[in-house]
Amino acid sequence: MEIARVCLFFFVSLIVLAAIDGRKRTRSPRSQDALSFCSWLKDNQQKKCEAQPLLGLSARDGVELALKECGNIFKDRRWNCSGVTIADVFQRQRMLKADNRESSYLHAIASAGVTFQITKGCSQGNWDDCGCDSKPTGRGKKEGEASWEWGGCSENYRYGYEYSTKFMDPGKNADKTLSNHLVRHNNEAGRRVIKDNMGKTCKCHGVSGSCTVRVCWRTMPKMEIVASILRKKFDNAVRVKLNKNKTKLTRMPRPRRGRKRNTNNKRPPPASLVYAAVSPDFCRADKKYGVLGTVGRTCSKSSLGTDSCPMLCCGRGYNTVNRVSDVKCNCAFIWCCQVKCDLCKEEWIEHTCK
Ligand SMILES: *[C@@H]1O[C@H](CO)[C@@H](O)[C@H](O)[C@H]1NC(C)=O
Ligand SMILES: *[C@@H]1O[C@H](CO)[C@@H](O)[C@H](O)[C@H]1NC(C)=O
Repeated sequence: MEIARVCLFFFVSLIVLAAIDGRKRTRSPRSQDALSFCSWLKDNQQKKCEAQPLLGLSARDGVELALKECGNIFKDRRWNCSGVTIADVFQRQRMLKADNRESSYLHAIASAGVTFQITKGCSQGNWDDCGCDSKPTGRGKKEGEASWEWGGCSENYRYGYEYSTKFMDPGKNADKTLSNHLVRHNNEAGRRVIKDNMGKTCKCHGVSGSCTVRVCWRTMPKMEIVASILRKKFDNAVRVKLNKNKTKLTRMPRPRRGRKRNTNNKRPPPASLVYAAVSPDFCRADKKYGVLGTVGRTCSKSSLGTDSCPMLCCGRGYNTVNRVSDVKCNCAFIWCCQVKCDLCKEEWIEHTCK
């Protein structure tokens, strides 16, 4: 009798503990964030998100990272990526449905960002069904290179790549619109930048740093690198149109002097960015596309590039302000171990667009 009661108590405790544990898990702030993020997605994307909320939230983080890098890489231009929100990306709205070069860049980098972030999660053991890539095997024996072998955690970009395809691309049943074709193509071009630029990171092992064994693993390119590779593709983006039966994109014939080259029905290269609409000049704010305009932007008087005052301010002119701020100066090392500095006034001239 006594034994039965102890057993019962034991079982009840187990169930209570399990319930508390379960509640803790579903109520962690991250899962709460994930569910609220999923709730403002639409249709298929929402379903996919709700099936695996933490993956969805990670995709969101990937897009956030992508937009940050986009801002850095375009900081010298009239359109500098600000004004684009995470919601714009997932709902393919405003600049993301303009079908121009800027849209193509945004789709590509967002899709790459999702690939990147989800793959990072694999390496960190965050997802049940993926881990490190066990495929790279063998040793390196390149001439002049110290010998090394695969080891450590190779980043398994395939999982992130596949997830990004399913989550970010318009589904198979989506309308055969020009926009949807462009999104698919540019998303793929973005993911390929990760796939085609997988690198190798190595670490020495051996007695007190003797490096008798070098172990290497596959690593993804940093998003900063992805952003700059895509920037080159942006500059060389290919203008396309939808073919008659709406099954594929074909290159627009480029105006050429002399002999006409027939580019009809030629597909754009898969790794290129594609666009269909000519971009506006981005001089003025345009709410419809989330364009902020260049009023108030800081421009450079000495530059000859896109951040020069005439270019950035679109010929409207600029205001000049004298600025002063405190900077550290006359720094000295004091034994031991401090650095002491004075504060000096530094003046400079700032130009901002009218
Ligand atoms: C339409 O697409 C099919 C393949 O899906 C192709 O065989 C056919 O020639 C296309 N028709 C036109 C008019 O382009
Ligand atoms: C980008 O442009 C907006 C306005 O167009 C401005 O507020 C923002 O500071 C700019 N960002 C950078 C990094 O220059």
